[in-house]
Parts: sequence; structure tokens; C-alpha cells
Amino acid sequence: MRKRIIAGNWKMNKNLSESIGLISELKSKVASKPENVDVLIFPPYTSLETASALTKDSSIKLGAQNMHQADGGAFTGEISAGMLKSVGCEFVILGHSERRHIFGESDELINEKIKKALEEDLKPVFCIGETLEQREAGITNDVIRSQVEKGLNGVTENQLNEVIIAYEPVWAIGTGKTASPEQAEEVHKFIRELIETKYSSPAAEKVIILYGGSVKPENAATLLAEKDIDGALVGGACLKADSFAGIINA
Ligand code: PGA
Repeated sequence: MRKRIIAGNWKMNKNLSESIGLISELKSKVASKPENVDVLIFPPYTSLETASALTKDSSIKLGAQNMHQADGGAFTGEISAGMLKSVGCEFVILGHSERRHIFGESDELINEKIKKALEEDLKPVFCIGETLEQREAGITNDVIRSQVEKGLNGVTENQLNEVIIAYEPVWAIGTGKTASPEQAEEVHKFIRELIETKYSSPAAEKVIILYGGSVKPENAATLLAEKDIDGALVGGACLKADSFAGIINA
């Protein structure tokens, strides 16, 4: 039985005092969460240390939204895996479509980051997904295959245990357009098959695959009812404690 994960990607939202407010509201709501669900939050860097202190006495787990692939050095503006660990992060989102499309991150760069995160004992939430044009051109599976192959290049089966995959169709992120449960399940199933081919069938059975893209309390239950959808990576709806808790309870 795979674990359920509901993850909230705050993106570039919430200053320090707003972060404190959201976490305290969330803590009281998450206290009664279903036992088989892990709740992860990904606040901005500036709130991580405080978030770590505030969530210590709760079941909420903490991650960052990105990191640099080097150990340290002259990389103005960047943050290393070791720095994230030192403020209590356990997870890191890598390859989010906004990093790929706005900041030009390539599959090769994302692969370097994934390997560095694993080396440093941070669990990557590895994001993949096709654009609307790619879907309309009928090449969704090719895009997903290539992202999985390149992103996980050199990642061993043992290391894969620590990787969470997030399927986020780019056309569904922040647009209010969710993939239908059937559309999402089709790709999740395909990703599991890719993992089976690349690794093994136990690896495919074990790997956690989240869906992301306009997940809300109203659509979460039907998405999460699909066999290969193990949880959600939530953007907009995680910025309010009520709606995030709605998804957790769904
Ligand atoms: P959204 O974002 O829920 O606002 O669509 C999801 C994500 O980018 O992870």
C-alpha cells in the first residue's frame, strides 16, 4: 500500500509573518488528518527556518521549492542542498514547470540537481508534464518518457525509493483547468510502466506519483480515487488553510 501525500507548493507567496499565520492555522487543521496521509509544505526560502521550528511538534513535513546543484561557491543568489538540510528541509521540488519554462532549466540540469539532492539525503519531488501544444500534437507520452529518462539518468533503484514523482500537465497549472481523472490516470499509469521498464516491477509498484494542476477540494477526491494517483502537489489552493485541509481530507 503506497502512502498518500498532499504537498503544498507556496511558490513566491507569503512573507514571514504570513507564513507563520498559515502554518499555525494548518497545524490545528492537520492535527486530525487521516493517518495514511503525509502532509508536506514548500514555503519560500525566507520562511523555511521558522517553518521548521513551527512544524517540529506536528506531523507536517518541510521542503524547499528549488536548489542549486553545487555544494557551494560563487553562485550569487543560489541555495545549496546542505543549506536546505541545515534549516530542517527533508524534501525539495525539482524540475517544476515554472523552473523549466520561466527559468530555462533543462532536463540535464534537473538531473544534476536530483542526483545532488539524493547525495545529500534530500528527497526530490521530481516534476514532469507536457504543454498544451505537446498534448494537442499527440506527443504527451514521448515528452513524459524523455523527461523521466533524462531526469532519472544515473539514479539507482535504491535511490528511486527516495524520489517522489509529480505529474503536472503544464496546461493545468494555475489555469483552473484540471486534467480529468481519466486523463491524469492514463499518464500516471504510463509513468509507472516507464519505471517498471527502467527499473523493476517492485520499483514501479512502490514509486509515489502525485498529480498537480489546479487541484482543489472540489476535484481532489475523484482524482485521488484513481489507482495510480497517490496524492497531489497543490499550488493556489494550498495558500489558504481551509482549502488545503479540504484536499487533505479528500
Ligand atoms: P496550481 O499549481 O495548483 O496552482 O495549479 C500546481 C503547481 O504548480 O504545483
